Amino acid sequence: MNTTTATTAPEPTFGGNAGMSSDYLEIRGLTVEFDGFKAVSGVDMTLLQGDLRFLIGPNGAGKTTLIDAITGLVPATGSVNKSGVELIGKKVHKIARLGVGRTFQTASVFEQLTVLQNLDIAAGAGRSATTLLRRRTTVLPAIDEALEITGLAALIDAPAGILAHGQKQWLEIGMLLVQNASVLLLDEPVAGMSTDEREETGNLLRRIGGERTVVVVEHDMDFMRAFATSVTVMAGGKVLSEGTVAEVQADPKVQEVYLGTAAGGEELEKVAVRDEVANVDPEQESTDA
Ligand SMILES: Nc1ncnc2c1ncn2[C@@H]1O[C@H](COP(=O)(O)OP(=O)(O)OP(=O)(O)O)[C@@H](O)[C@H]1O
Ligand SMILES: [Mg+2]
Repeated sequence: MNTTTATTAPEPTFGGNAGMSSDYLEIRGLTVEFDGFKAVSGVDMTLLQGDLRFLIGPNGAGKTTLIDAITGLVPATGSVNKSGVELIGKKVHKIARLGVGRTFQTASVFEQLTVLQNLDIAAGAGRSATTLLRRRTTVLPAIDEALEITGLAALIDAPAGILAHGQKQWLEIGMLLVQNASVLLLDEPVAGMSTDEREETGNLLRRIGGERTVVVVEHDMDFMRAFATSVTVMAGGKVLSEGTVAEVQADPKVQEVYLGTAAGGEELEKVAVRDEVANVDPEQESTDA
């Protein structure tokens, strides 16, 4: 008998799946203006199903505003086309219903309610508040699946308020899954997480990313390097560079904007130093004197 469950789900790959039936998000000329200031300025970006895209860039680059524009939170011009459907001009709830989900930097779960109740609300199966609050004896298959994928099954009856920081972010991702989101836009999901939680989050993104489009806004370069299949670098509201991790790291334009900020410079340096260390032959390195 089989004791291990084989994972058959596809993993994210660079560029995603460009198959005929695959989902896509095509962003063209996306612009967001605040009182004449262009926080996002003529952004073009194509995201295919199966891509785990990291969106990086210095503070104020326009990353969050880009997500706000895609999800209808701020008015924008240009085009965001999801598998043939134009999102610009649509209301927030309509865009969510079309399968575009996002998380915010601060977890927004209902702390007093249990994990199951949070997922139930996200599934929004048209039940009244009292029905939702009553303990359910059956669990919807989509919720079961989300519990499994996020590893929260054992905490089904725990109030969300007692969850660890990482677990709250996973619950939020679970809530997007039960809403059937095929595009997930995650704004700094691992900020404040421990190293172990980061690792688990990365693996979670891998598990869900094969069949969906996942965009992760992040400042943590180590995390990006470990899990990104592709990277877009923004600066000053525009796309500065795009490609594999290695390609953007080697791009002089990227190095320039990151070196312009102390923290960013350090991050890139750290990555560069680690690359050198990684190139050292481990046999030689462990040779004792
Ligand atoms: N509602 C708003 N009104 C006016 N200006 C805004 C508004 N929201 C954002 N901005 C400005 O737009 C620019 C882009 O901000 P945004 O929050 O998108 O950057 P970010 O790349 O997410 O930065 P961070 O990494 O710090 O989160 C900033 O200069 C910011 O001050
Ligand atoms: Mg931001």
